[in-house]
Amino acid sequence: MVDDYERLRHGCDAIRAMARVNIELKAVDRDPEATLARCLALGAQDAGVLRQRDVYFMARRGRLKLRVEEGALGGELIGYRRTDALEPADSTYILAPVAAPEELSEALEATLGTVAVVSKRRQLLLWEGVRIHLDAVDDLGTFIELEAVLPDAGDVKAAQEKVARLRAELGIADEALVAVGYADLVMEGAQVLLLAASEAMENAYAPYSQFKVGAAVRARSGAIYAGANVENVAYPQGQCAEASAIGALVAAGETAITAVAVVAERLEHCPPCGGCRQRLSEFGAAGTPVYLGRPGSGDPLTVSLGELLPGAFDRDALEALES
Ligand code: THU
Repeated sequence: MVDDYERLRHGCDAIRAMARVNIELKAVDRDPEATLARCLALGAQDAGVLRQRDVYFMARRGRLKLRVEEGALGGELIGYRRTDALEPADSTYILAPVAAPEELSEALEATLGTVAVVSKRRQLLLWEGVRIHLDAVDDLGTFIELEAVLPDAGDVKAAQEKVARLRAELGIADEALVAVGYADLVMEGAQVLLLAASEAMENAYAPYSQFKVGAAVRARSGAIYAGANVENVAYPQGQCAEASAIGALVAAGETAITAVAVVAERLEHCPPCGGCRQRLSEFGAAGTPVYLGRPGSGDPLTVSLGELLPGAFDRDALEALES
């Protein structure tokens, strides 16, 4: 699993050397008091209560948040990559201390744009190298997070086993698991993507059709790549928004899509064209959601890639042809 992340962390060596890895699990916790009692009974050490405010920025690769803790002098800039997943997933991250968080926040807001702001009360417990977070998130509810920090929690396998053991001891049910981050829950995952697609759509170059389209794809690292349609006076040379977004994804070194959003200026729900269904299928799975709509205007129409392109011509077909 970590090998995959080695590939994803294709940036500079300095980043690779500084990055740390966690194995993480997140779940809804309807009874935090009972969970706290169970954690303490298991021998977890109570490391106190923190009040945290995270500002999430639109990152080019992976995810980026600025954390400010109540009572702390500065803040922390956290760059990380984590795949949205129900099962324990690895998160690769770098923490950078920040002396002037307000100024940094303004600079990042002005240049990258803000995705969401999440405030929470976090009770921190420590158990055998695993951080247990009992989080009460403003406007969202109560959650538990298990973060096995490497190498404190052992190697990857040992860390996964610890998370699984703790999960079993705490009785965290499958139905309670949450695949996405708090920013996605606050904004609703679809809204974050629709917003990115909509911003790209504003810049669409569509002087011939007057039909502006924006698309955004969520990559396996958690990063969002957006694109707009680009037309040409020689009409067939035009490129769809989805193709532009995929180009940005691939140029950044990623090849897996976990969600898609498409926004059109003059159509409430813009169905991807046939060619783009095939293009998206190259990088997504049959179950990958595709959100069609506009940011901030209610629930989008959600369809899966498999529904958009049933019986797709895929790699299996190619392999069958070759053998
Ligand atoms: N278009 C897209 O960008 N994506 C789609 O899935 C449908 C169509 C663009 C292509 C062209 O620039 C304009 O919309 C009108 O067809």
